[in-house]
Amino acid sequence: MRLSALTSARSALRMAPRVELYTAYELSPVQEKIREANKKGTYGAVPKRCVVTGGLGFVGQRLVETLVERGAEQVVSFDIVPPPANVWKHEAIKYITGDLCNLEDVEEAVKGADCVWHNAAAVGPFLPKHFYGNVNVLGTKNVLEACKKQGVSKIVYSATPSSRFTCSGDVDGHTEADMPDIPQESYVAEYSATKAEGELLLRKACKNGEIMYIAVAPHTVYGPRDNLFLPNLLEAAGIGKLRIFGNGQSRVGYTHVDNYCHGLIIAEKQIYETSPHLGKFYVCTDGATHPHPEGYSIFWNELNEAVVGMGFDSLYSKMALPYFLLRIIAAICDAISAVTGKKLKLGWFTLRMLTMHRWFRITAAQSDLGYQPIVSYKEGWPDTIEWFRNKWLPTFDPSTASGTTGGIAQQTVDKVKLQEQRMKK
Ligand SMILES: NC(=O)c1ccc[n+]([C@@H]2O[C@H](COP(=O)([O-])OP(=O)(O)OC[C@H]3O[C@@H](n4cnc5c(N)ncnc54)[C@H](O)[C@@H]3O)[C@@H](O)[C@H]2O)c1
Repeated sequence: MRLSALTSARSALRMAPRVELYTAYELSPVQEKIREANKKGTYGAVPKRCVVTGGLGFVGQRLVETLVERGAEQVVSFDIVPPPANVWKHEAIKYITGDLCNLEDVEEAVKGADCVWHNAAAVGPFLPKHFYGNVNVLGTKNVLEACKKQGVSKIVYSATPSSRFTCSGDVDGHTEADMPDIPQESYVAEYSATKAEGELLLRKACKNGEIMYIAVAPHTVYGPRDNLFLPNLLEAAGIGKLRIFGNGQSRVGYTHVDNYCHGLIIAEKQIYETSPHLGKFYVCTDGATHPHPEGYSIFWNELNEAVVGMGFDSLYSKMALPYFLLRIIAAICDAISAVTGKKLKLGWFTLRMLTMHRWFRITAAQSDLGYQPIVSYKEGWPDTIEWFRNKWLPTFDPSTASGTTGGIAQQTVDKVKLQEQRMKK
């Protein structure tokens, strides 16, 4: 796809209102404190010329903002979605609309970069199947090629811990070293498999001395402007269709979006020729600031706080759904999805994510990258709930909302439609 064609098509594309809602540079009170600290240099300097792929996504947008707040001279925000009218217009930010699957587009974006944060991806379980291979594998291959051609040597890769999940068993306080390495024989989802494949391309190139990279993964990113995790669950809760799954005791580690951006940014400092950390995979979460200082929260308790915070009925006022029943429903939903192509919310992947333990000890990120969360979970979670109450709730329309096992949230549908439209061009 040519960039000029993309540019001229921008004005023709009508942005869905909810997508626009999520794109303004309007920070929550907790993020405003972080912005001030960023500007003061509390967390150190950043490279002059930065590139962020997926720069208009949940993480990418905050990453672009953080790099600017920390003093970057130019930040290229590269995304398949054109910048909406209300996006932050700062002289240091250059928005480039293009497709990762098109090498020319990517080359144009990475030209002259000191470091590329390769963060764009087909994320989550709800996208059409062909997105995953195209964006996560071919897209990463193109980032690699483009960097080699343009002489860019540093890449920070946004990875996912689910590439290390096994199809059975919990992740209950594991370190990176406790988890299986990639490639695995099988993966919990197409998303995880293709993210692993992308990472393996980088690993090979790094071993061959073609580029240098570090992979940094968050876990369940939350925060203002989240467009996947909370909206999908809150929609189901808002129409009374969300129930606690199984015994409701799953332990989960979370990552505030600003903590993830911090982890991604400081990883760049460990990318140099003799670095012992090149090619490694790290997990950054809110760590010891969780309600359980080992590094986790009880998932359903925290979710219920958000549900009640929206004024919806407490999840504890309803009967929990037994695990065996959920297994049957998930199998039926997956079969329907396979036959009709329609994505349903409760597939096996979602069920597994909502019932297994998923938390990590972040000792490697702490010792190798010097990572510490800059937003405490105890501040970040209530601040996020407040943001959703003020910004998301007024847009919530129960008449168009999806149920637990039904279609996915309008939020996600809007996003998929936009990406699909652009990929067809
Ligand atoms: N959100 C989480 O909980 C989570 C957890 C683990 C890992 N991650 C990783 O963090 C990264 C960011 O995730 P996110 O939550 O911000 O997702 P997101 O979907 O909000 O952002 C991804 C961005 O990539 C863009 N994109 C998709 N296809 C593209 C293409 N072909 N060309 C150019 N841009 C394209 C999208 O338009 C979107 O703006 C991803 O790499 C993801 O794998 C996220």
